[in-house]
Amino acid sequence: MSPKARTIYRCTNCGADHPKWAGRCDVCGDWNTLVEEIVSAPANATGATARRRGGTASLSAGGTAVAAPRLRDVHGSEARRWKTGIGEFDFVLGGGIVPGSVVLIGGEPGIGKSTLLLQVAATLQGREHEVLYVSGEESPLQVKLRADRLGDSAQNVALLSETNLETILATASAQAPAVMIVDSIQTVFTSDLEGAPGNVGQVRESAARLMHFAKASGTSVFLVGHVTKGGGIAGPKTLEHIVDTVLYFEGEGTLDHRVLRATKNRFGSVDEIGVFRMHENGLEPVANPSELFLSDRHDIASGSAVTTLLEGSRPILIEVQALAAKAGYGTPQRVSTGYDGRKLALLLAVLDKRAGLSFSSLDVFINVVGGVQLREPAGDLAVAAALASSVYDRALPSDAVFIGEVGLGGEIRPVAQTERRLAEAAKMGMRNAFVAQRSAGGRIPKDVKAVGVATIADMFRRLFS
Ligand code: TYD
Ligand code: MG
Repeated sequence: MSPKARTIYRCTNCGADHPKWAGRCDVCGDWNTLVEEIVSAPANATGATARRRGGTASLSAGGTAVAAPRLRDVHGSEARRWKTGIGEFDFVLGGGIVPGSVVLIGGEPGIGKSTLLLQVAATLQGREHEVLYVSGEESPLQVKLRADRLGDSAQNVALLSETNLETILATASAQAPAVMIVDSIQTVFTSDLEGAPGNVGQVRESAARLMHFAKASGTSVFLVGHVTKGGGIAGPKTLEHIVDTVLYFEGEGTLDHRVLRATKNRFGSVDEIGVFRMHENGLEPVANPSELFLSDRHDIASGSAVTTLLEGSRPILIEVQALAAKAGYGTPQRVSTGYDGRKLALLLAVLDKRAGLSFSSLDVFINVVGGVQLREPAGDLAVAAALASSVYDRALPSDAVFIGEVGLGGEIRPVAQTERRLAEAAKMGMRNAFVAQRSAGGRIPKDVKAVGVATIADMFRRLFS
């Protein structure tokens, strides 16, 4: 810390500063809002004095002028991204790692963040990009054991077991790696602040200085952040504001696949996802997620229908299963996994009223395969088709996909991005598509036959009569 800097406690609610920590801000009255912060002493007082004296020189306010280049003189291009070779990872970042960028990777403990980053480190190292892996959570032996599990590829990665920010920055400056991984930001602390590692002030200050280091040196920094109970990384949203890119690593359902999702990206689009599968020796990228979510489609039973789910720019085919079985005494059951229970109740009422399909004496079970959540209205038609298929006990064509929203009048409404969904369906071998009438007039992939249906009754007639 420079001799002029000092620490204060700032209220995260009203911004008031206090020389000492207190449980309650005496300006706004909020509890537990004071966070330790480093401030520089006010810029030299001569600035203000000079301003009063007048003259243009005094307008500099004590700062030093620097050159401001024209944009055309700023060099570097997209081509300067570093590819890790792990396709799904590069894809989510927007085409590789941008030098000097700071990426925050959040996720619940045990989801595989350290595994993913060690694999990234290994492939980067294999491509002659120096990587420094800073581990504050695990001993060198623990990291080594994980590396052994992943094969020999990570053996050349430099490992620093350290939590002191000053030591980390000094080591990084001396080694000048292309990429530095800090696992995790909650374990890093600066001796300039008194708070314990992991508290808001420490996390924010450490992240800000690592960010400064990245911009000044061109080293890309990956920060691992644990997700708090509220779902945010490290508590303060401020961390997400200062970094360039925020990725979340999540599990979907109970299966062993993991989804990497960008929620903020200064160098690419957000809402892109990358899918991985966790094996006994590391994460394997799944280049074609649809294959993972469709169960074996060779001889399908009744009650199964396929639809598309749009995740970012990438549509994924998923399978919906329905089982309608004769209910015992009492109120029939409605059990739904991956599909909203209230939407199911509504759909059952519509099927009863508009297509004469009664479920009043049937137990109904819905399951979206792969532990996926089907939240888009585009999935309604598939759920309706699966339900009808189960009631009539007749299997749907195995190469058919159902895309459309079902309205209260039983009408089928078009959904966003039908063309992209159909393109993915075609790629996965689907040859028939049931869509809203208006969508059937759009651009359809050449090996797909689009059937426009006006209402669910209309669709059931075509499927079952
Ligand atoms: P880890 O990367 O330590 O998670 P995080 O850093 O997000 O806390 O991964 C932990 C889990 O992954 C652990 O339960 C073991 C499992 N795992 C595998 O299944 N295969 C592997 O090859 C590795 C390294 C871990
Ligand atoms: Mg970890």
